[in-house]
Amino acid sequence: MKIMKTALLAGALAVAALGAATTISVAETKIGFIVKQPEEPWFQDEWKFADQAAAEKGFTLVKIGAEDGEKLISAIDNLGAQGAQGFVVCTPDVKLGPGIVAKAAANGLKLMTVDDRLVGADGEPIEDVPHMGISATKIGEAVGQAIVDEIAARGWSMDEVGAIRVSYDQLPTAVDRVEGALSVLKANGFNEANIFDAPQAKTDTEAALNAATVVLNANPEIKKWVAVGLNDEAVLGAVRATESVGIPADGMIGVGIGGAESAINEFKKPEATGFVGTVIISPKRHGYETALNMYEWIVNDKEPEKLILTAGALAKRDTYEQVRADLGIE
Ligand code: GLA
Repeated sequence: MKIMKTALLAGALAVAALGAATTISVAETKIGFIVKQPEEPWFQDEWKFADQAAAEKGFTLVKIGAEDGEKLISAIDNLGAQGAQGFVVCTPDVKLGPGIVAKAAANGLKLMTVDDRLVGADGEPIEDVPHMGISATKIGEAVGQAIVDEIAARGWSMDEVGAIRVSYDQLPTAVDRVEGALSVLKANGFNEANIFDAPQAKTDTEAALNAATVVLNANPEIKKWVAVGLNDEAVLGAVRATESVGIPADGMIGVGIGGAESAINEFKKPEATGFVGTVIISPKRHGYETALNMYEWIVNDKEPEKLILTAGALAKRDTYEQVRADLGIE
């Protein structure tokens, strides 16, 4: 396969060098980039950076949104039928792991995952599939520390504060993120009985708003709140919920994870909201680098690393411009 491609390329280049052909036909490299939530700014950014890799290397990038397992499976078949050689995926459900691996193999497609790591029938990560994710526990801890610092800055006593744990526990990285944050809160004397689970049906703002509203309505005596969740959308949902029940911005401390448009827009509002900070993570690494790694795997047989975990940096209303500049984000 590789030899054939090289021969084809050499042949085409020879023809081109002779000036005998106006169009060169080389085997086209086609890579799929499938994401679970195409409308979320994080995934839009990932696609944008994957496009950059495609433009640089001259491969075709096929961007597909797959919000459920059925769409995902047909997307993989579709990529196979189009003659793609591989794809990067953030799956809508990590438990589809063995099915995704089998589908990719049946279509002769190389497979890498991004953001959400596939799990096998035993519930353990499928370590064979190259993956790039965030260092979830560490980033969660940074969220927790930011909240603890803000509680101190506001002079709150820990005992009067409630925590909304916007949860999506079927996703391991989500559990690691919120538990990382809560571990720091507890280590700093946060009352465990005041931590309330708000399970969201999907990982968007509306689902988080609904889940957080239930918690707030069930605990009207608590007037000071903090919120953690797997991403900015989850925490923004909790912030919107506090607003809707009349808790003012100075009664809420939400710190998210992501740093994409939804978070930055919040900082740009003329009045501060309860969304106090976000840990900015890198859609460039997750989009550009994964697409590039897949390209190298297909074209140069260079296998990607099995596991890459990326870092984050805390940004707040008054620091986000500097933090973004330091990270090279325009
Ligand atoms: C998950 C979340 C996304 C984003 C990525 C980052 O997929 O759903 O919002 O945080 O992780 O890896």
